[in-house]
Amino acid sequence: MNWFEVDRAGLAKVLERRGKGFLLFELVGNAWDEAATEVDITLERIAGTRNVRLCVRDNNPDGFADLRHAWVLWASSKKSADAGKRGRFNMGEKLVLALAESAEIASTRGTVLFDRDGRHQSRKRLAQGSCITVVVRMTEDERAECDRAARTLLAPAGVATRYNGEELPHRAPEGRCELVLATELADDEGRLRRTQRKTSVAVHQPLEGETPMIYELGVPIVESGLPWHVDVGQKVPLAFDRDNVPPAFLAKLRAGVLEVMHGQLDAEKANGAWVRDAFEHHGGELSQTTVAAVLSARFGDRRVSYDPSDPEANSRAVAAGYTVVHGSQMSAAEWSAARGAGAIEPAGRVTPSPRPYVDGGRPLKLVAEEDWTEEMQAVVGLAKRLASRLLGTGISVRIAMEPTWPFGATYGPGHLVFNAGRLGREWFGGPLADILDLLLHEFGHHHASDHLSDGYHKALTRLGGALASLALAEPALFRLDLTERQREGALHG
Ligand SMILES: Nc1ncnc2c1ncn2[C@@H]1O[C@H](COP(=O)(O)OP(=O)(O)OP(=O)(O)O)[C@@H](O)[C@H]1O
Ligand SMILES: [Mg+2]
Repeated sequence: MNWFEVDRAGLAKVLERRGKGFLLFELVGNAWDEAATEVDITLERIAGTRNVRLCVRDNNPDGFADLRHAWVLWASSKKSADAGKRGRFNMGEKLVLALAESAEIASTRGTVLFDRDGRHQSRKRLAQGSCITVVVRMTEDERAECDRAARTLLAPAGVATRYNGEELPHRAPEGRCELVLATELADDEGRLRRTQRKTSVAVHQPLEGETPMIYELGVPIVESGLPWHVDVGQKVPLAFDRDNVPPAFLAKLRAGVLEVMHGQLDAEKANGAWVRDAFEHHGGELSQTTVAAVLSARFGDRRVSYDPSDPEANSRAVAAGYTVVHGSQMSAAEWSAARGAGAIEPAGRVTPSPRPYVDGGRPLKLVAEEDWTEEMQAVVGLAKRLASRLLGTGISVRIAMEPTWPFGATYGPGHLVFNAGRLGREWFGGPLADILDLLLHEFGHHHASDHLSDGYHKALTRLGGALASLALAEPALFRLDLTERQREGALHG
């Protein structure tokens, strides 16, 4: 005795929300799952009634392998182990029947009729193929919806598919790629399992008025949120309703499509939420070309990132016609991919503010020597003394007044510049520890420029050691409060 019975009218009500286009999709999907080369869909109003007759006929030589599957829900579907077929639940065609006033399924192994009195089988057999006919209540709007739905189908190559006698035109894809995507396949015992599998994906331009959809082997499933239709060449992971895909599946598909279609991005496409989704989950896998194409479409080819370490560089970038991209204009994942792909550089690197040792930089605003305070003179003297002892070389020392320049001091070979604009005048008055801190930092650059390099690190520890020894042996060298003559006295007296 069966556990379940089906309230067909109740099921029909639940199905209302799927609209009527799904009737075509289920029946055509079934026909395309078979070895058919011709599929004919006809939909016509039955004159003087509120009903239409929908018929889907195919020429698959074998017809229904087991006619019982026409009415048995969830019987193990032989198609569920085949990634290249759409069917898996053994349910779709029964959902179509649920909406029917009456129906006939004629095939090579017999015919079954459904009407007000129930289900009847007859011996009528077709020489080839199957013909599924359902009489369904439909408003004119719903019939028009079916017309539109039929035209959105992407018929597989080699299967002439006609709607009311007119062959659905072959729609050539704009792009194609291979992707490893989640699919679901039955295992040896018929249980559906999620698994990853390589498949081909075709990207199509939607026709006027079409909403871009994800397709499963030519049958539309769910809005893609992309600027294009995307036809996946294998089973798509789906719930019973066949109207939703998992977010991770969507993100991967979006990243894949972005990769193939990056050449066709404009600002509107590149700013879509789908691009953000692709970066969020697969930013690290996108090619450098794709990442650069997205940034070019959004911000133009001349772009730099806002550089907080060099404020002047940002204004210089704007003046030079660059778009300065601020942090909030891209998500963290987008920034990470953009930097990783070298698709954007900070303004400080592209249009740096003037630096004293760079050729062509504008001259520094200097504090003239006659305007130096006594404290400035003392620090300059200290710097020169320590340079000659620690670096073994004389150096020139200048004092700049560059408040927008992000450094307290700079050191190029033999040249030290203090930036009073950054350090402040008071800094020159001590404490000594702060002054030595800066001098060690700058003298370290005598050996290496990169702060994070091993060479720089070694130079600092070496200088630190030498500095301490010098301080013990000749403390007077460090006195800021003595004139040179007094110091001579302290050294030799
Ligand atoms: N046109 C057809 N030609 C041959 N067999 C068919 C045809 N239409 C349906 N069938 C058979 O009837 C079965 C039931 O179809 P149904 O659409 O209910 O389930 P399914 O396609 O297996 O899975 P799903 O519920 O995912 O669509 C199919 O598995 C298939 O064996
Ligand atoms: Mg089916």
